[in-house]
Amino acid sequence: MTKKLFIKTYGCQMNVYDSERMAETLEGYEQTQDVAEADMILLNTCHIREKAAEKVYSELGRYKGLKAEKPDLKIGVAGCVAQAEGAEIMRRQPLVDLVVGPQSYHRLPDLLERTHNGAKALDTDYPEEDKFEKLKSRPKARRAPAAFLTVQEGCDKFCAFCVVPYTRGAEISRPVGQILDEAKDLVERGVREITLLGQNVNAYHGKGAGGDWSLAQLIWALNEVDGLERIRFTTSHPNDMTDDLIEAHGTCPKLMPYLHLPVQAGSDKILKRMNRSHTAESYLKVIEQLRQARPDILISGDFIVGFPEETDEDFEATMELIREVRYGTAYSFKYSTRPGTPAAERPQVAEDVKSERLQRLQALLTEQQRAAQDEKVGQTCHVLFERKGRFDGQMVGKTEYLHAVHVDDCDATVGELRTVEIVSSSTNSLSGRLV
Ligand code: 5AD
Ligand code: SF4
Repeated sequence: MTKKLFIKTYGCQMNVYDSERMAETLEGYEQTQDVAEADMILLNTCHIREKAAEKVYSELGRYKGLKAEKPDLKIGVAGCVAQAEGAEIMRRQPLVDLVVGPQSYHRLPDLLERTHNGAKALDTDYPEEDKFEKLKSRPKARRAPAAFLTVQEGCDKFCAFCVVPYTRGAEISRPVGQILDEAKDLVERGVREITLLGQNVNAYHGKGAGGDWSLAQLIWALNEVDGLERIRFTTSHPNDMTDDLIEAHGTCPKLMPYLHLPVQAGSDKILKRMNRSHTAESYLKVIEQLRQARPDILISGDFIVGFPEETDEDFEATMELIREVRYGTAYSFKYSTRPGTPAAERPQVAEDVKSERLQRLQALLTEQQRAAQDEKVGQTCHVLFERKGRFDGQMVGKTEYLHAVHVDDCDATVGELRTVEIVSSSTNSLSGRLV
């Protein structure tokens, strides 16, 4: 009998990708959305901010009753909290049978095997073998039209606030051939849009014909894949926005006019203390070049407010940078101390100051997001339809700028790309009609 697997995913898009791959490694299991019927529960966790990590423990606590009812229920913790806390998780929450880090989840079936008879299994190694090579055989199931594909993992940049270099490890790039095979397989299974993933995706330098390839070279090769209609990539570092990649935004037909390019702060003093190794000016220069290459490109970003020693003046510099860039969308956070990172030891900004700054910053970003959406009203866009809407006959898709669009009385099918005239804009989405 097939067993039921319940996976809950926290954090970034790479975790979404990893969860899919983990589900595929577990033969004899099929996924369920109902935790009550699960034979195995897997939490794929995020360690980026304190709150994200704490959520994991409160979620685990909720499974006490289930485990009491069903002693054979296996509970596993994967992802970045697993990597960062290891065996501490089992000490703090004895319900947990298995802990597996992001670099060793291809070993999940063996680990699960080891938990028979109530034993615990832990693997937070950085193995020699290629995780992706081991994960190669995928079932040929249909996929949704938009998919993620990890091409690069880990980070060598060591921003002073960030746990990623410790949880995801050193930067590695997958070989070009492996990525192209996976992309073609996804397309055969119904995928039309691929988002290339990496913590530092534009630092990609995978082995290809003639030596190491840049991300731009990889994108151009993907541009040749028949049936693939759209390419995106995330997350990028400003210092790795090479000329060939900027240029591709103007010339590569399948590369979408959207870029997530985090800057974190607008004050050079803070950027220096964050160990970002770029300035506000060099970031603005990259944005200018991108807009020269592709005037309608929509820029997205990440911001941290209340980084140690951030003054009012530093914060105003961030606000000024935001006004200059005009973001289409953005993510912003209060600085959260992460044990083991350099900034955790420094003088901290008071919580109420952080809250006040975040509120002001988010108000400005919301205004900009709305303006970027409103600008599209009256224009035509291309929409990749991803799913049915809430109402009869309604379909939902995404434009090239990653705006969600609702279309009523829509005869488009899931996976179809159609031209849509945008008729209105609301808080988080657009409405349109087929042209
Ligand atoms: N505190 C707050 N935000 C953080 N980020 C990363 N580390 C921290 C931290 N310690 C944010 C950054 C990053 C995004 C993924 O999360 O903005 O780009
Ligand atoms: Fe969270 Fe970073 Fe891990 Fe993604 S890589 S799950 S954002 S800690």
